[in-house]
Amino acid sequence: MSATLSFCVSDRFSDVGFSEIVVIRNKILALKKEGHQIFQFEGGEPFPNTPQVIKDACLQALVENKTRYAPSSGIPELISVLTDKLNKKNHIPAEPNHLIVVAGGMHGLFAAFQAILNPGEEVLLFSPYWTPTKDLISMTGGKTVLVNTLKAHKEGITNTLKAYLTPQTRLLCLSSPQNPTGIVFSREEMLEIANFVKTHNLLVISDEAYEDLVYDQAHISIASFPDMYRRTISCFTFSKSYAMTGWRLGYVAAPEPFITAIKQSVLYSTNGVSTPTQWAGLAAVTQVTDFIEENLAEYRRRRDLLVNGLNELGFDCPMPGGAFYAFPSIKKFGKTSKEFAATLLAEAKIATVPGSVFGPEGEGHLRFSYSVAVETISSGLAALKDFCEKRI
Ligand SMILES: Cc1ncc(COP(=O)(O)O)c(C=O)c1O
Repeated sequence: MSATLSFCVSDRFSDVGFSEIVVIRNKILALKKEGHQIFQFEGGEPFPNTPQVIKDACLQALVENKTRYAPSSGIPELISVLTDKLNKKNHIPAEPNHLIVVAGGMHGLFAAFQAILNPGEEVLLFSPYWTPTKDLISMTGGKTVLVNTLKAHKEGITNTLKAYLTPQTRLLCLSSPQNPTGIVFSREEMLEIANFVKTHNLLVISDEAYEDLVYDQAHISIASFPDMYRRTISCFTFSKSYAMTGWRLGYVAAPEPFITAIKQSVLYSTNGVSTPTQWAGLAAVTQVTDFIEENLAEYRRRRDLLVNGLNELGFDCPMPGGAFYAFPSIKKFGKTSKEFAATLLAEAKIATVPGSVFGPEGEGHLRFSYSVAVETISSGLAALKDFCEKRI
């Protein structure tokens, strides 16, 4: 073996990137160190803290020495309540042995893509898309085929998807509500997607990270449609619903043969989720009552304040139907999204994420998270107004 080859990483990583958001965070840290106050809209975290009852359940698990290996698919108590939740709330006909507890949404998606994709197989991905999705696909040797979401909205889902279909297409990756746009697919659009997938015998990975952050309609799980469960891997996380981003807890539901491969991927990577964290998850599902609804009202308040404010300043910003992001257009400023985000940070101390980070279809936009204090939104908008008045 040549010396050069010895010091190479595997080909699987040749097209895998590191999040550009890390670069932005480093710039923010540097500015803060210099004493600047930054209006931070770049994040992706729920604004509240984890509810106390969840933290108490974790502490109690520690006190009771529930600290040993658990089954690598998850503790039966949690699997049981999650199955019930999927059956009743999501109308997904999952059975307990079709479920696995994973270390957050990212881990579930990782295991799902690993379980299905072969090198060279193509994945239809609506774009703009959550950046890691493309990297998760690349790590399997699979190929991402971007489908322009806005075009699909305007020209019809089926016609648009058809244009990207090839004999190599294996899978469609769906995320609704969507990050970064906040777009929520309507029931009709979801049905069209389901019919397309069935007609062309494809599989679906459904990323439902924001299922509890839908403002104007009920959340729809694609696996709930007739004949869809057997071809769908549904991925969920506690991160956004219960403000548990740092706990790393999620779950995946899929029928055979997929769930066995997903269980193998988890067994040979993390070998399951930390046991006290799973007891905390059980408390989240069984004991947290009004948290999600109360938060939804707070997110809506923040969304309306930010989106109306952006539109008043002349940014063209559609009202997002879900998640906690606004995605205004900056096209009229004549700069790339990276240039504009950098100028906004340097001159107005407003931190956002350039739209191009989320794929070519995101260019010409910025992502603002409104999961921040109301005061940050008001002062951030005032700083943005100053910035615009000086510039235009
Ligand atoms: C669309 C989407 N899917 C999945 C995830 C992953 O969530 P987790 O923090 O549980 O890994 C995120 C997190 O930001 C997300 O935005």
